[in-house]
Parts: sequence; C-alpha cells; structure tokens
Amino acid sequence: MNKQSLDPLWIGKTFDDFLFRPQRGVTASRAAVPLRSNLTHAIALELPIISSNMDSVTGGDMAQTMALEGGLGVVHRGQSIERQSDTVARVKRSHSAVIEHPRTLPAGSTIGEARAFARKHKINGILIENAPGSAILAGVLTRRDIPWDRSQDGEIVDRFMTPLAELKTAGPRVATEEAERIMFDGRIERLPLIDDERRIHGLITRKDVRFLRERPFASKDAKGRLLAGAAVGCSGDFLERAQALLEAGADCLFVDIAHGHSQVMQNGIERLRAQFPSTPLVCGNVATGAGAQFMRDLGADAVKVGVGPGRGCRTRLETAAGVPQLQAIREAWCAVGGEIAIMADGGVRHDKDIFLALACGADTVMLGSALSGTDEAPGRVIEDPATHSKKKIYRGMTSPEAVMESLYDGEDTEAVDAALATPPEGQEIQVPYRGGVVDILHRIRGHLRSAVSYSGCESLADAREMTLPDPLQYLIVLSEAARRESYER
Ligand code: XMP
Repeated sequence: MNKQSLDPLWIGKTFDDFLFRPQRGVTASRAAVPLRSNLTHAIALELPIISSNMDSVTGGDMAQTMALEGGLGVVHRGQSIERQSDTVARVKRSHSAVIEHPRTLPAGSTIGEARAFARKHKINGILIENAPGSAILAGVLTRRDIPWDRSQDGEIVDRFMTPLAELKTAGPRVATEEAERIMFDGRIERLPLIDDERRIHGLITRKDVRFLRERPFASKDAKGRLLAGAAVGCSGDFLERAQALLEAGADCLFVDIAHGHSQVMQNGIERLRAQFPSTPLVCGNVATGAGAQFMRDLGADAVKVGVGPGRGCRTRLETAAGVPQLQAIREAWCAVGGEIAIMADGGVRHDKDIFLALACGADTVMLGSALSGTDEAPGRVIEDPATHSKKKIYRGMTSPEAVMESLYDGEDTEAVDAALATPPEGQEIQVPYRGGVVDILHRIRGHLRSAVSYSGCESLADAREMTLPDPLQYLIVLSEAARRESYER
C-alpha cells in the first residue's frame, strides 16, 4: 500500500471489536449535526446511507424514499432492462421541481380516454397538445374538469379543458421561486413551461415544489430531480443495460459483481468507460487495499468494499474468501482514501457500526438487511398463522430464490449466467416486518449525530477529519468481557 501501511492491530478486526473513546462534547444540540459526505467526488449526500442493489431491498419505492431522506437507492439488476430502467425513470419523475416530460394527450381525445389516462399514470392534470406528437400546448384538463357522469365519456376533451388563452404559463427556464409566486398569486396548482412557439418544455406543480421545500435534505440532481443509482454487471447485456439506465436518468452506475478485483471487472470498467466517459461509476466489491487500488487505477469514482459480511451472504462459509469488514474498510482507506470515495457494503447490524465504518475510512455505507422488512422494500408482508408475527423475505442476490426469479423475468442476464454456472453464495432469510423505512432512517440519523457529538466534533466531516489519519487513537480494542458488557443485553 502506497499511502499508509495497515497497522497490524486492524488484522482480523470488525465492528464488535471496538468501542469509541468519548471526547469532550462541543455541540450545542445534537439535532443539527451535519452528516454530509461524498458518494463520489462530484456527488454529496446529506445522509451517507445507500440502500443495497438487492431485489428484496431496492425497487422504486425504496429508491425514491432514500433520496427524499438524503441518501440514495440503487435499483437492482435482477430484472429485465426495461423494468429496471422504467423504475429509474419513475424515481426521476417523482417529486422533481420540474417535470421535464409531462404526460400529454392530443386534442380530440375523448373524456373516457382522459379518465383512463389520468388513472393509469396517477396524475391530476393532463396537458393537451394540439395534435398527436406536436408538443404544442392547447390547454390543460384537470381531474376536476372530467365530468363525474360517465354518460359524457364520448365527448372530446377540448370542450372541458382550460384553453391556452386562459392559462397561466411560464418560460422554460423560470426559477422555482418565481414559478411558486405565479402559482400562489394565480391560485393555480400547476404551471406549464412553454417557449414562444407554445412548445411544451415542462410542468411545475405546487404540490411538488412544496414537498421538496419541506425536505431540504433530499438528494437531488442539478435539475431538482431525485437522485437514483442503478446496478449493472460486467458481461452479457451490460452495455445495453447501462445505456437504457442512463437514458432513464440514472445518476450513477453501480458496477457490481461478487469478485470485483478481477479480470472480468477490468474488462467491464474499460468498456463502460469507453462508452460513457463521464458517468460516475461505483465499482465493487473488493475487500483489500490492492483491490481498492485496482479500482482507482481503472478509473472508478468510488470503490465498494465488502466480501462476505452481509446477512444474506454465504461466501465466507462456502469459499473461506473474505476480510473482516472493518479491517477491509481500513485497508481500502490506507490504499486510496481521499483519492476515490469508499463505500462500506454489508455487515452492519447496529447503528454504531455505521459510525465506526465512517470513522475508520468509509465515505458512505450501504445497507441491505437493516432496510429490508420495511414497506418500501419489494415483497409482501407474511403473517405467521401461529404467532401472528409479521415478516418479510430478505435474500442474497445469488441465493437460489433470487436467481430463479430473475430467470423468470425473461432475460439471459450476466447475473443469471454466472449464478447458474456456480453454486449459490447467498441465502434467503425471514426478517421482522418493520413498517416505514423513514422511521429507520430517522433513527440512524439520530444515532449518527449522537456518535459525532460523543466524538467531540460538530459535524461528521470534522469527526472523520479527526479520526481518519489514525482511528486507533480513538478506539478501544475490547476484551471478551468488555464485549459482553457492551453488546450483550
Ligand atoms: P447486509 O449485511 O447489509 O449486506 O444485509 C448487504 C450486502 O450483501 C451483499 N450481498 C451478497 N453477498 N452473496 C454474497 O456473498 C449474495 O448472494 C449476496 N447478495 C447481496 C451485497 O454486497 C449487499 O449490499
């Protein structure tokens, strides 16, 4: 390792091996401790938590909620290209200050068609264009304009919409504050953005603007849309998948395979970089300093660290491959810390593990099982008929169940090929049903802020600046008795 050699004390160590020595506190209130950290050099998050690209963790609902809360969701790739990119597009469309491609119906459509259209796309206001595909605004039809009485379903929308001459509109580049003022003054809920030729450039709704203003922490792109990550592999249809995901608006690609420090990864990154030179790439997984340097040298923007610590993983049990997770995080920092971002992935069982990961080298932390079991994670709630306890399924992406399901999704993906060629290194478990993920993120945020306060710093960034050069100065290695005293309850 070129940057700093690994202190031998780290070898064999993971989260439960340490406590953090409390420092003199300086924060007036824990409630306001900033937790900003970097996903990549160019993308910062107000909550450095990422939901794992697993089919039992991150679909559209999870990705949307993670971004709204200041983190990021990574939409999994155990599904067809179309379904994955549709999910990304849905996250990007939700809650943005400006809806870039608002849904339109042509003049001459019937009220029945408009009713079905509004229901299908769950929208309250439809922009009416003057001819199919013209994108020239003719008027707006809201749900309130649609007659309750279905006997008029054969009538055309033109009779019921508010025509352009009576609409308030704004130019394509109107500032959000100005748009809000126009909507407030005019007592209107939506503002179409059009150019001098009446061509539609977007739509701003009062509800979206208000919603985002109430969430200053939300992770947003330059256009005010929620951030979304998406996973790709390194072979098979991965370039086609990457292209579709980027067209759908993905902000970064997670190039994710089980053994990232490999020739397969090298080929994958080289081909992705050649085709998408400026796309942020988070690449993994690796568990050593050499693996992290390998990713840096290939041009990754961030390296994902963790081989086998996850709850759905059987890699260590089946192959003996792996590095204790806190050692792996520290090795990565000693090798590439400050050059590319480091994401700790897997093995977090308690909130204190997140702080330890961040204080020892990680810039962000990816969670799988800790966020599963929530309403936003894909999958149904199962009720045990005997005990009435509620559960959800959490499973490794190479578990037989996840592999079989992606097979049914119709595409011969790299994940399926690889998984069929090798025996499973993942398993399925039941986790307790936990309600909404927002409550869990709220708890994590609170515990992280308290941890920063105990570290004697005012922000997570300050705490990391203090600890990263030599975390062992602040850590206490636990005896068996001390570990029992600390963690057994
Ligand atoms: P946690 O501990 O947060 O871990 O549940 C989530 C991470 O586990 C990894 N993962 C797997 N590892 N076989 C493995 O060895 C698998 O089938 C598998 N599926 C997921 C992944 O890195 C995830 O983020």
